[in-house]
Amino acid sequence: MRVLFIGDVVGSPGRRGLRETMPALRERHAPDLVVVNGENSAGGMGITERTANDLFASGADVITSGNHVYRHREAYEFIDRCECLVRPANYPSGNPGRGHTVVEAAGRRVAVVNLSGGIGLTVARSPFDTVDAILAQLDADFAIVDFHAEVSSEKVAMGWHLDGRVAAVFGTHTHVPTADGRVLPGGTGFISDVGMTGSRTSVLGVKPEQVLRQMIKQMPTRFETATDDVWVMGALVDVNERGLADRFEQVMVPAPPQD
Ligand code: FE2
Repeated sequence: MRVLFIGDVVGSPGRRGLRETMPALRERHAPDLVVVNGENSAGGMGITERTANDLFASGADVITSGNHVYRHREAYEFIDRCECLVRPANYPSGNPGRGHTVVEAAGRRVAVVNLSGGIGLTVARSPFDTVDAILAQLDADFAIVDFHAEVSSEKVAMGWHLDGRVAAVFGTHTHVPTADGRVLPGGTGFISDVGMTGSRTSVLGVKPEQVLRQMIKQMPTRFETATDDVWVMGALVDVNERGLADRFEQVMVPAPPQD
């Protein structure tokens, strides 16, 4: 079976790009399960019930998140309620939401685990210990992991930690796709970062002139989500009967231009 993972959808331009590109991706790749990182789907930061439902309507089966997941207070009840939305499992216990979920796809029970890196981001527990504890008691045919992390060394280390134990580790958060996507020797599909779904005429999704102003003048600047040249970025893994990856393919496609 085939899993399509889509990287951080940034704001309404990213949501539009996904919505308008998904039919072609479905036709071309015929994924059995679509997992989308939606933590920047609301105005470029955070997620709401409305933006999550927009991603589900575009074809996401499961939404993953990360450090901005609690940006919108009104979404906490939804994050708690929605069984197809996950937030990093190594956040404080009792925070809204769940760290992993199990869904059915192509007749198999697939666990989707969300973890946050512990370097440069705030977590309650080590992502390594946390994923070990989840896998030890998991009732599923196989697992895939969204590792939302800042630092490439930690992401690469997680790939080796989980090699042969999960079908795939998809790195997210840094929004720039890396060139290390492959199947590791033990059978785990891995990439440090799948990239983002949003404007490429941007700095990680924000209008370049605003980021440049802040970086050059070092003055507070209001950031707005960039809209031009939207691309959809992600990766595909083909998962075999053993719950490991046979094949890894990076996905980077321009969305249809806006009318
Ligand atoms: Fe993030």
